[in-house]
Amino acid sequence: MEFEHRPVLLAPTVDALLQADFGGKGATRSSQLDDAQAEAHAHARIQRGVFVDGTFGRVGHSRELLSRLGPEARLVVFDKDPQAIAVATELAARDQRVTVVHDGFATMREALAGHGIEHIDGVMLDLGVSSPQLDDAERGFSFMREGPLDMRMDTTRGPTVADWLADASVDEMREVIADYGEERFAFQVAKAIAARRATRPLRTTLELAECVASAVRTREKGQHPATRTFQALRIYINRELEELARALASALELLAPGGRLAVISFHSLEDRMVKQCIAAAARPAVAHARLPLRESELPQPLVRSLGRVLATDDEIAGNARSRSAVLRVAERTTTPLGSDGAAFVPAMRVPGETPATKRGSKRRPR
Ligand SMILES: C[S@@+](CC[C@H](N)C(=O)[O-])C[C@H]1O[C@@H](n2cnc3c(N)ncnc32)[C@H](O)[C@@H]1O
Repeated sequence: MEFEHRPVLLAPTVDALLQADFGGKGATRSSQLDDAQAEAHAHARIQRGVFVDGTFGRVGHSRELLSRLGPEARLVVFDKDPQAIAVATELAARDQRVTVVHDGFATMREALAGHGIEHIDGVMLDLGVSSPQLDDAERGFSFMREGPLDMRMDTTRGPTVADWLADASVDEMREVIADYGEERFAFQVAKAIAARRATRPLRTTLELAECVASAVRTREKGQHPATRTFQALRIYINRELEELARALASALELLAPGGRLAVISFHSLEDRMVKQCIAAAARPAVAHARLPLRESELPQPLVRSLGRVLATDDEIAGNARSRSAVLRVAERTTTPLGSDGAAFVPAMRVPGETPATKRGSKRRPR
């Protein structure tokens, strides 16, 4: 069965990568280039640029980008999902500008180096899951559809949610559900899961949804009681925030001067990380504010923020998924990085890791 995906913030995301004068809400105006230079740069990027789509999905953003790129440009697409990769492989067979990588976008730097690419002109990330993943009950992402409790984007590797829930401790479950789902009843949910699995293993989405609903005491308006727990488990099992942190660091290292980063987030944990990373790279001098340094000795901005864009009312009316989407855009300056890109990504504590799992036990999803 074919499931459709309607791309979110399609035109603004591709404009963000290609348009010389792109600017969302809160964009920093000052550029190192004058208008004519910026136009010439944009023209060269369109003709011969190297771009990355870290979240290929069902070709929505990639198709639009390719339709606007010249014949000598290149597009490297990543996805963890084998079904998305099958679609990407068909596209690459028809369009020689396209290279396909079946892996997490966290591996971007190494994967691009393997293809002889050291610098890129733009990278877009449309985070989270696609509609085909959500709509296909067999993938186990939806608390509304009965299916196996899987939730892996990459069904070829790593433990499923059912595997993890079978032997995680109450404390590990509580931490994951609280940190990644911001669920007030995380402890109660973790205890309910432990009590339930003591009699019968949790194998399906609806079994988990029912178990969670029994532990969540107050319902949020218009929200299923399992929404937060399902979000948390999905983020955890797919290492979504760790992947994002590594990708942001790689983007700072890979983007050529004038190159653009465009990230669409769907929840506050992701958006906060993107926002803080862009802010830290845009104002690295803030970290040195207390040191006795002259103006000329202060570290210079590595990016300038090109602001944020939200979906219009029209887009939201036609595609409910776009309601929570936030697109943030940044442009790399000419300042050399001087250190590891990870220095500009907010530090993150990974929940659910006991000292044993930190040392790499089999339970930690990869
Ligand atoms: C929201 S969809 C992207 C849709 C796409 N932009 C389109 O218009 O068709 C997210 C896609 O990214 C993939 N994905 C999410 N996180 C990923 C990661 N860390 N590495 C690689 N792929 C990822 C998912 O498997 C899914 O196919």
